[in-house]
Amino acid sequence: MNLPKVSIIVAIDEKGGIGKNDKIPWHIKKDLVRLANMTRDHMAIIGDRSYNSMAGYYDRSGRPMPAKEYLVLSKNKDFKSQRNNTSVATSIGDALNRIKKSGEKEVFVIGGASIYKQFIEFADRLYLTVVKGEFNCDTFFPDYSDFNKEIFSEEDFDEGHRFTFRILERE
Ligand SMILES: NC(=O)c1ccc[n+]([C@@H]2O[C@H](COP(=O)([O-])OP(=O)(O)OC[C@H]3O[C@@H](n4cnc5c(N)ncnc54)[C@H](OP(=O)(O)O)[C@@H]3O)[C@@H](O)[C@H]2O)c1
Repeated sequence: MNLPKVSIIVAIDEKGGIGKNDKIPWHIKKDLVRLANMTRDHMAIIGDRSYNSMAGYYDRSGRPMPAKEYLVLSKNKDFKSQRNNTSVATSIGDALNRIKKSGEKEVFVIGGASIYKQFIEFADRLYLTVVKGEFNCDTFFPDYSDFNKEIFSEEDFDEGHRFTFRILERE
């Protein structure tokens, strides 16, 4: 069975930083809305640290998490979520098997750092938001210099941040 299209969604600063103290160090509503819209009808692949952080954010706001389904990477087989659209994969091999069997046409890898690092070799496309500035991050996105074909690029502004939304593939 073949893998469906694998796309990564990530927001980075100008140094490739993606997080600090387990949080994304900027708040850009437009970008969060785009992530929600892109994953609404799809499976999202996520590490358990990012999942817990995201679930806490949505719990506080009283809204459901936006993706159709979450596949959470955790070595803890007893990982439990209160959400019925969440299941756990305990290794990359397990995750890849489930993705292959999912029947999905495209799945989205949504972080964090350890998940991006392990999945980038399987990715066909990057949906990249590059936020202007440096945010003193402690967590970084891996090298993506082989994604050298730009499909789309658009500058935008929201909540005091300038950013460029880019779509990249390998040549
Ligand atoms: N800027 C962005 O777009 C963006 C997006 C998402 C996240 N982030 C940031 O990224 C940071 C979190 O990244 P992170 O690397 O610390 O955490 P993470 O990737 O979200 O989660 C790491 C956890 O995933 C599990 N895991 C990883 N590889 C696995 C494998 N092969 N098999 C089974 N389980 C596996 C492990 O859980 P166990 O310990 O339970 O085994 C590991 O502790 C935060 O700062 C967050 O805000 C940024």
